[in-house]
Amino acid sequence: MQQAVSLMFSSQPPGTLTAVENSNDRMSVAQKEWPRRGRILMPRISKTNGEPMEEQPLTGAVALVTGGSRGIGRAIAHQLAALGAAVSICGRDRAALEESARTLAKIGPRVHAQAADVTKPADVAGLVSRTEAALGSITILVNNAGIGLFGPAHEKTEADWDRVMATNLKSVFLLSRAVAPSMIRRASGDIINISSLAGKSTFAGGGIYCASKWGVVGLSGCMAEDLREHGIRVSVICPGSVATEFSTRRTKDASKLLRPEDVAHAVEAIVTQRPGSFLSEIHLRPVRKP
Ligand SMILES: NC(=O)c1ccc[n+]([C@@H]2O[C@H](COP(=O)([O-])OP(=O)(O)OC[C@H]3O[C@@H](n4cnc5c(N)ncnc54)[C@H](OP(=O)(O)O)[C@@H]3O)[C@@H](O)[C@H]2O)c1
Repeated sequence: MQQAVSLMFSSQPPGTLTAVENSNDRMSVAQKEWPRRGRILMPRISKTNGEPMEEQPLTGAVALVTGGSRGIGRAIAHQLAALGAAVSICGRDRAALEESARTLAKIGPRVHAQAADVTKPADVAGLVSRTEAALGSITILVNNAGIGLFGPAHEKTEADWDRVMATNLKSVFLLSRAVAPSMIRRASGDIINISSLAGKSTFAGGGIYCASKWGVVGLSGCMAEDLREHGIRVSVICPGSVATEFSTRRTKDASKLLRPEDVAHAVEAIVTQRPGSFLSEIHLRPVRKP
């Protein structure tokens, strides 16, 4: 049965938007347990109003996707909602965030959107705590927010370096550190970091961006080793060029680029991987070379 979606502004701190089916459902979502890994690939049949209904594979999961207001993050958030997860998104542009949240709420009604800058520890702490208050414990973290800055490193400023590193690399540390304790307590969780093929290669003009994305690959591999004994799977996705605002500013033939949905599909593969194993690193390329 289609539930009415209520969008609540008044009781939320500035910059937050939460959509839930109704207050009772919000309670029940918060109390739900993350489905045990063994159930992820075995959807159950349940009955609602006498009608058989297939349970979605991520029912009960709570995903936080940074940079979910546009591009790759938006596609990932939509895909996870379509698979049944409650989804929280963040970004700095509140209008873009609200627009994305309203679209998301049509796919899955358990949505939380919050204006937050992932480079700021206080914003990250507030994002995690309000997401968990609205939706329940975070079971899937997708560190997606990122910026591009290209050109010879020797021509860039220290401020350029700091901005790219804080957004693309430090944010992964801040967010992962904020969600890891509760994942460790539950001995379960997926942390998925969006790096780039620029995190596996080098090219002229890529200095600062490549350094940040190589850093994400290195951090992800070490986090995977630290957290696997706690039942937490850490994965890194390295896409080639994807058709978003980020890349269409550059010169490649957009029709041959990856689509944001291709990256979202890789995230789906990771979170629905059978229990007892994980996809540690995915390199994603378009079939036709751009
Ligand atoms: N597009 C590509 O070709 C490509 C290829 C490989 C990897 N990637 C990686 O994929 C990720 C997403 O890229 P995209 O192409 O989807 O870029 P995009 O279209 O520019 O979207 C970036 C998202 O990140 C958010 N964001 C940026 N800085 C933020 C901050 N400080 N705090 C919170 N949110 C922030 C943006 O929202 P606000 O601006 O409103 O904050 C936006 O939602 C990035 O990590 C990028 O490096 C992209």
